[in-house]
Amino acid sequence: MKGFSILLVDDEPLMRLSMVDALEAVGYDVHAAASGTEGIDVIGQKTFDLVITDLRLPGADGMTVLQAAKDKASETEVVVITAHGSVETAVGAMKMGAVDYITKPFQMDELLLIVERISQVVVLRRENQDLKAALEDKFCFNGILGSNSRMRAVLDTIKLVAATDSTVLILGESGTGKELVANAVHQNSPRRDRPLIKVSCAALPETLLEAELFGHEKGAFTGALRQRRGRFELAHRGTLFLDEIGELSPVVQVKLLRVLQERTFERVGGNETIEADVRLVCATQKDLRKEVAQGRFRDDLFYRLNVVQVIVPPLRERQEDIMVIADHVLETCTGKLSKKLKGFSPPSRELLLRYSYPGNVRELENMVERAVALGHERDVIQPFDLCGFRSCPYLGGPQQEACGFCNEGLTGGKRRADVPLVSLAAAREQFEKEHILSVLERVEGSRTTASKILGLSRKALWEKCKRYGIPSAHGDNQDEE
Ligand SMILES: Nc1ncnc2c1ncn2[C@@H]1O[C@H](COP(=O)(O)OP(=O)(O)OP(=O)(O)O)[C@@H](O)[C@H]1O
Ligand SMILES: [Mg+2]
Repeated sequence: MKGFSILLVDDEPLMRLSMVDALEAVGYDVHAAASGTEGIDVIGQKTFDLVITDLRLPGADGMTVLQAAKDKASETEVVVITAHGSVETAVGAMKMGAVDYITKPFQMDELLLIVERISQVVVLRRENQDLKAALEDKFCFNGILGSNSRMRAVLDTIKLVAATDSTVLILGESGTGKELVANAVHQNSPRRDRPLIKVSCAALPETLLEAELFGHEKGAFTGALRQRRGRFELAHRGTLFLDEIGELSPVVQVKLLRVLQERTFERVGGNETIEADVRLVCATQKDLRKEVAQGRFRDDLFYRLNVVQVIVPPLRERQEDIMVIADHVLETCTGKLSKKLKGFSPPSRELLLRYSYPGNVRELENMVERAVALGHERDVIQPFDLCGFRSCPYLGGPQQEACGFCNEGLTGGKRRADVPLVSLAAAREQFEKEHILSVLERVEGSRTTASKILGLSRKALWEKCKRYGIPSAHGDNQDEE
């Protein structure tokens, strides 16, 4: 089999040659060594999928070769060849990590069979790793996790627009990941080796913001004791991220518009014209069109900024991402805090999936971090760790007035003002998901029964569960796909 590499270490020339011949005839990629020392040398230079070594060797013995192979790469498999009647040594080798042994004298077919079995396992393992890497790649781009189709589209836009110098306007509610998007645009652009400078337009009053953006000359205003370069200058040849652009005052809006039109500016209190070779990325939680319509944001500036628009959807409209992000945060936090939590219990998953996250990803992140840090269970996160109430409807108890989850997920009739402003399709999906969850709950997780009640085929239900990230319940194994 091509691509499967074997190192064969045996000091008996005839034996070595016939083994090499037999293995090469099948198509393996074989390297031979005539002593333990030579074998260890070769291992130092190359990593093999499999090392076959005689135990009794001149120089370094087979055990030392085994150790060297495992030290180099723990995934390298080792088969030892032992003399007839020395099974104890073979057992010792297995304890040190050998996967199998073969006793001399043996038929070549016996050896080929062992090698074939091992190569199949190795190939499978490799395929699995490739698949995992591809999956990680599919769901993650520059730290932005997302399997939802709208998030995939956002990531595609980022990849495309990053290569250009176009201004990017990122829109989305608080905590949806706008800053992550801005980072990704810069990191994937030809400007990635130059600075990414960030300014929050909401953080400073008008006069200070102006000086912050464009810099100032010495004596430009009281307190301007020396000349200072602004963010536009610092971002030269790089990217300037203007966050909360909707908060810009009319005066600064005019100045920004001028920079965008002329690609030059002056420091506050100065006459020197400075070139602005800056790629602009802006973000806001506000509905900028509405701001324009109401006269609070200049339309000419809006059109200059709105070259490529990236809308980051709120988390409640991309339910598929909830568990992807929650699992990721759990893994990172457990690692950081050296805890051994394995995941979320089915009821806590349900709770996470039902919630609407007004604070979006940031809220989910904080919630999981807190649950890991303060969690009471050693194995899995339970609803209590997330919401702080011991008794709740998820645990067969009464509804808790003070609990955000209870109020939201289980009251049934939401207040009108709370109804998310989403498309009919998104609302239908939300209802469908909640209905499937309720039915599954009533039938104790049996998908067979649930599919009958719902009038769906088992496959259709399975697909919907997968789409909505509904996990299968415990004790439902016989019912699993
Ligand atoms: N898709 C995602 N995958 C992983 N983490 C995310 C994702 N989206 C957001 N986050 C995380 O959520 C938090 C909030 O993200 P970010 O600061 O980018 O949001 P924002 O939209 O800029 O919020 P705000 O409007 O409040 O400034 C960060 O810790 C970020 O790492
Ligand atoms: Mg932000």
